[in-house]
Formats: sequence, structure tokens, C-alpha cells
Amino acid sequence: MDTTANQALALSAVRRPSDAPAAFLNDVLAGLAAVPKAIPAKYFYDQEGSRLFDRICDLDEYYPTRTEVAILAENRAAIAATLSDSPILIELGAGSTTKVRHLLDAAPGLAAFVAVDISGEHLIAACAALAQDYPAVPVIPLVADFCDPLRLDGLVPEGRRVAFFPGSTIGNLTPGQAETFLRRLAAALGPGAGLIIGVDLEKPAAILEAAYDDASGVTAAFNLNLLRRINRELGGDFAVDAFHHRAFYNAPEKRVEMHLASRRAQRVRINGRTFLFEAGETIHTENSYKYGLDCFAALAARAGWTVTEVWTDPARLFSVQHLTAA
Ligand code: TRP
Repeated sequence: MDTTANQALALSAVRRPSDAPAAFLNDVLAGLAAVPKAIPAKYFYDQEGSRLFDRICDLDEYYPTRTEVAILAENRAAIAATLSDSPILIELGAGSTTKVRHLLDAAPGLAAFVAVDISGEHLIAACAALAQDYPAVPVIPLVADFCDPLRLDGLVPEGRRVAFFPGSTIGNLTPGQAETFLRRLAAALGPGAGLIIGVDLEKPAAILEAAYDDASGVTAAFNLNLLRRINRELGGDFAVDAFHHRAFYNAPEKRVEMHLASRRAQRVRINGRTFLFEAGETIHTENSYKYGLDCFAALAARAGWTVTEVWTDPARLFSVQHLTAA
């Protein structure tokens, strides 16, 4: 397929959720009314949030991105061997395409590449660049929340499907949610499905806490941008300076927690509703679970997947794993 036809296919396949603004408002109002207060992490990623997230990935303290990229680069041949039968590759949360380029370079014969992301602007630009650089592979952008059931029929050609889920995004779900997500993913992908997934590993709290609370304050700005986004898009009146970023490792739960903590007692109005904060009260905005290899394999098995290969870095900070559906 030539590049022009490829891009026409790409753009015709874009789907936009029409209820997105209402869902954001509803989720924020429900989350601030809950005890304890919490807002779903997917709302971090407006344009500014996506830009700040790209900066997090370049921080010295944030080891996951560069470690995962190094694992992909080191093990290209072995990873490509799992893609040698020309399957359709589907990246879940394709905000940046740096990682998948390693797979596209190593396995040039893919039947198609489908990029699923919640942020349309980011996705279209990324897919246009990929279509240019990989003219032999049809590139199909799909604007969707990958936490919702994935509907591929009619959008994606027939054939074996392999999902690519990097960045330890699986760790941003609770283990129970991760199990449900993986079970549904196997069903959505269909017979013979594969999964190449990045999973962050357990390690000392000091390394984790630095990674999620960097010295230059980029992660703090990323977290606080959620309040700015609520002010911008939902007409909220958060005094952003009256909140601060808090990140810590919750060892019993094996997760890094990110919160926005209120510096003082205050009230916030959004869309005619008032929310009260006590001094020190937090909005829980993110979890990032860390796994042992055995623990993750057991979770995957409960969801119908078998871990067939695990690639790690020498310091065992991070893992990339290949799974097949039962
Ligand atoms: N999934 C990655 C992680 O948990 C990236 C990520 C998601 C992240 N939300 C974040 C990183 C918030 C820093 C802050 O590490």
C-alpha cells in the first residue's frame, strides 16, 4: 500500500468518543464526593499533561522509560521472533511512538499497526509520522479509552493479533482491575493472541520515591496540571497553589501512590457543586503497582495468559514480557 492510501485509511479509521466532556465532569464530581477523594488517572493526559509526561520520561530519576527502551533494543531479535508470522500489532496507549519503532524496525512484515490512545491530537500526529517512516505497514489510529472493552471488528483486518502494552501502564490498575483487563483483552484479541507488556518490578522505596517525586518538580507539575485542567475545562476554581504533590511507596500494597494534598482547609466549586477540604486532606490521583515476576505470572495465569519469555535489564529494575493467550 502506498503512503497516501495508507494515510487515507488511517484517518478514516479514527473514532472519537462523543461523551468525553460529560464523562470527565461526572468522574470529577463523583471522585471529589467520594471518601477518600480520588480522580481517575486517565484525565492527566490533556495536551499539557501529555507534554509534561514526555518530560517525566526523560528525567534522570525516572528509570522506567529508558530501562524499557534499552530492554527492547537489547532483545530486538528475540522479540521480533514472536512477531514473525505477520500478525496485526495493536499498541494500547500509544501516546509516544518511540517504543513501538523498535518493534516495527525488528519485525517489518506486520500486517498492520493499530495505535489506540485516548488523546486524539497526539495520536494523529504520531500516526502520520509512522505512516511516513513505515510505508509498508498500514497504520490505523483508534481514539479510544483502552480501559473500555476494545472493539476491533470492522476496524482492524482479520488475522492473529498481538497487543503491545508498554510503560508498565498495567501497574496503574489495581491487581484486580489488571486481571479483569487482561481477561477481556484476550477475548477482544481473539484466537492465538499474543501480548508484549512492560511490567515494572519491586525495588527499594528510595528509588521509587525519587522516580515519582523528582528534584526538578516535573512530576509535581504533571500531577497539579489535573487541577488546572479541571479549572480550564470544567470551570472549576481550584487555587492550584493551595495544593501540593505527594508521592510515596505503600509497601504493604506494593504501589507508589500519588496524591494532591490540600495545604489548608478550603472549599472548591465546580459546576455549581462545593467540595470541602481539610488541611492535609488529599485527592488520590494515581497508583503505580510494582510486581515480582512470580506474582505477575500468577496474575496473568488467572486471566488466561501464559508468560513465555521475560526480558530484564542487568539491575532487574524493569521487565518486558511475552505472553500468549490460553
Ligand atoms: N505507567 C507509568 C508508571 O506508573 C507511567 C505513569 C503513569 C506515571 N502515571 C504517572 C509516571 C504519573 C509518573 C507520574 O510509572
